Formats: sequence, C-alpha cells, structure tokens
Amino acid sequence: MSRGLILAIESSCDETAAAVVERGAHTLSSAVASQIAMHARYGGVVPELASREHLRAVVPVVRAALEQANLTLADLDAIAVTSGPGLAGALLVGITYAKALAFATGLPLIAVNHLEGHIHAVLLNERESQVPPPRRTRPGAPGSGVPGEAEPLDAQSLALVVSGGHTHLYLARPTNGTWHYQLVGRTLDDAAGEAYDKVAKLLGLGYPGGPWIDALAMHGNPRAVPFAFSQIKTKLHLAGKAPRTKAAKTAPIADLDPHFLFSFSGIKTAVLRYVELHDLRPEAEARREALFTGPDAPARPTVEQALAVCEPETLDLIASFQHAVVGDLLKKTFAAAEALGARRILVTGGVAANRALRSRFTAEAVRRSIDVAFPTLALSTDNAAMIAAAAWPRFLAGEFAGAELSADPSLALGR
Ligand code: KG4
Ligand code: ZN
Repeated sequence: MSRGLILAIESSCDETAAAVVERGAHTLSSAVASQIAMHARYGGVVPELASREHLRAVVPVVRAALEQANLTLADLDAIAVTSGPGLAGALLVGITYAKALAFATGLPLIAVNHLEGHIHAVLLNERESQVPPPRRTRPGAPGSGVPGEAEPLDAQSLALVVSGGHTHLYLARPTNGTWHYQLVGRTLDDAAGEAYDKVAKLLGLGYPGGPWIDALAMHGNPRAVPFAFSQIKTKLHLAGKAPRTKAAKTAPIADLDPHFLFSFSGIKTAVLRYVELHDLRPEAEARREALFTGPDAPARPTVEQALAVCEPETLDLIASFQHAVVGDLLKKTFAAAEALGARRILVTGGVAANRALRSRFTAEAVRRSIDVAFPTLALSTDNAAMIAAAAWPRFLAGEFAGAELSADPSLALGR
C-alpha cells in the first residue's frame, strides 16, 4: 500500500535542498546545504558559482534526506522538483537530477513552482499540527482524493510571499484538494528581501542582510528617521511597461489594484542619501566591512561584535528602515485581505523569518480579528519540504511532468 512518500529537490537559488514528506503532511526529513558562506564573500549570489555548488551538493543532499528518513528510493511514490522561478543554471541541476532519478526508478515526476512551495510551507506546518502521526493516518491509494484531515480547514487565504526574489500577494484557495492562486499584488521593482540585502550591503553589514538588520534593529529607535513610501505611480506600467524585476512573470500590472503594489527600490536610495547627508559612513562603516568581509573577518560574527561597530545613529537608521518596510508590507497586505474578504493571512518566504514583521502582523491580526500564520523559521527560508508538500495535491490529481520538463526562470504562479 502506498504511503504517499514524495522526495523533493529544490535548487532554485543558493540552497541545495532535499526532503521526504509523507502525504504532504508529515516531514520525514529535510536536508539543506546552504551556499551562503560562499556567496557572502561577493556580497550576493553569483549564479555561476551557485550552479557549480548545486552540482557538488545535490547527490549528498538527496542521500542525506533518504538516510534521515530511513528510506531507500524503492520506498518512494514520486519525485518532485522546483521548475521555476529562479536561476536557470541552478534550477537545471535539480531538474536534471530529479529526471534521472525518476527515469531510473520509474517513479512519476512532479514539477513545482517555488512560490507555491513557499505557500505550502505554512500549510505543511498546519497539517503537521492537525494530522495524527503517520502510523495512525487513514491509508489510501493515490488518486483516492485528498483526505479531509490533511487539508487546512480554511477555504480562502491571502498569501504574502516575501523573500529575496519575490514580494507577491496571492489569493489562495483549495477546490476539491487542488489549490488555485490569483495574483492580487506584487512589487514593481526590488523584492523586500532584496531591499534588506542592499541596505545591509551599503552599511557594510554581512550577507544576507535580512538577519543582521533583524538583529540590530532591536537596538535602535524605529521612529528616528521617518521613511515614507510614496503613492505608487502606475501610469508607466499602465502604458505597458514591464516591472523592473527579475522575478516571475505575472499578469499585466494594469490588471492589479495599485493599492496592493509594492516598490522597494526607492527606500534603498533614501537610506543611502541619509547616510551621505549625516556623514554616517566613513570610519564605522570601514570597521563593519572589516568585521564582515575583511581578510581577518571571523567566520561567523556575533551580534555583540556587530553592535560594537554600529554607532547609535546607524542603529536608529536600521530600525527605521525596517519599521518602514514592515509597515508598508503590513498596510497593503491587510488592506488586500479586507478588500478581498480573506479570513486568513499566510506570510511566507525568507523575510517572514523577521521578528518585527511577525510581531507586528500578529498584533494587527488580533486587532482586526483575522488569522495570521507563518512557517517555522526553518521552513521560512528555502527548503525542499515545502516543495514536497506542494507536490502532494498534484500527485493525487495525477499531474505529472514529462521528460521534456525544463527550467523556467520566470515561471509565474496563478493568473
Ligand atoms: O526565501 P529565501 O530563502 O530565498 C528566496 O527565495 O529569495 O529568502 C532569502 C531572503 C534574503 O533576502 C534574506 O535577507 C531575507 O530573506 N531574510 C530576512 C530574514 N531572514 C532572511 N529578512 C529579514 N529578516 C530576517 N530575519
Ligand atoms: Zn524562496
């Protein structure tokens, strides 16, 4: 009898990940090999190096996922893989290996959109807390329909996918076990995580910048610098211009409500102007660069070491930047939930790990009597358990990929 075991592989950016998830609801293993330390030296992801590292890591990471789950390939029911969006060369490594595994084992191959994976990270957490341990789950053959207990109870959610490559708002709803996504908002330029990374870089902090800004912001005054997000001008986009982003292609911007559009490129420039105007740069920034990227930089600087090279004005600037970004995400996400009648908000992606974001979204949800859910910290950033979880409804529906499956760097989710 099938156990509904899916092995998933994720290699869209700078993490090589593999996981085995049972019936989309129970994580048996989740292995992640991060390339962060290597890219940190260059202050960002270098695509060619990413592909090379994925090539090195994919076989041991898949082996680790099977070993952790105490399984062999013969125990599996399907292989799932991220097919986009992401870096073309990086995606191809995972896809090629997944295809080879599927071919060698005769197992079906399931293509998963990375953004759908991030949404299912939250749903996987919910299923893990709802579903009884696997030995006691109701057995069922593939195609027998999604078991009621494995589906979240709520019918419609607004999902904010907020990461280094994406800032997208989707209305997500299941119909007979199949999830449907409608794009309702997105960034016109930089993703929120990209803004975190760029601001951290210009201040001389380490890569990725999000976790550093998260940790340091607690020591500054979030109201010291009143950064404002101006009203988004949609005229250019209405005239047919494409958004300036590397992320997934989406429906025409003109089809989206301008109230739910984001723009994070301006705040980076505003931070830079502030630094120049207030002469925050020279000596402290050099000390930060020495701590994070200098020849004698420690492998893992501590928050205390970082605090020691941040003067109070810089901490205030960091706290104010974060306050503005989280405030903008919060305002537009809750406005969209209200306008669209969503009873629940899911926040997912690397930036969903942010502590200020979590506490402000939680407080606002309480104030508005609406549910908000986040993945665990490990499931917030890139991983393969979320890909296996997103693959489960497709497995049940028999939606399998053919041998022609290829990487789609700008794969869109929903319409
Ligand atoms: O989801 P993810 O691992 O990869 C992408 O699909 O992009 O997200 C990585 C992004 C980076 O921009 C990183 O700076 C940001 O998530 N990030 C954070 C935090 N942890 C990671 N941003 C703010 N606060 C955090 N704690
Ligand atoms: Zn991601």
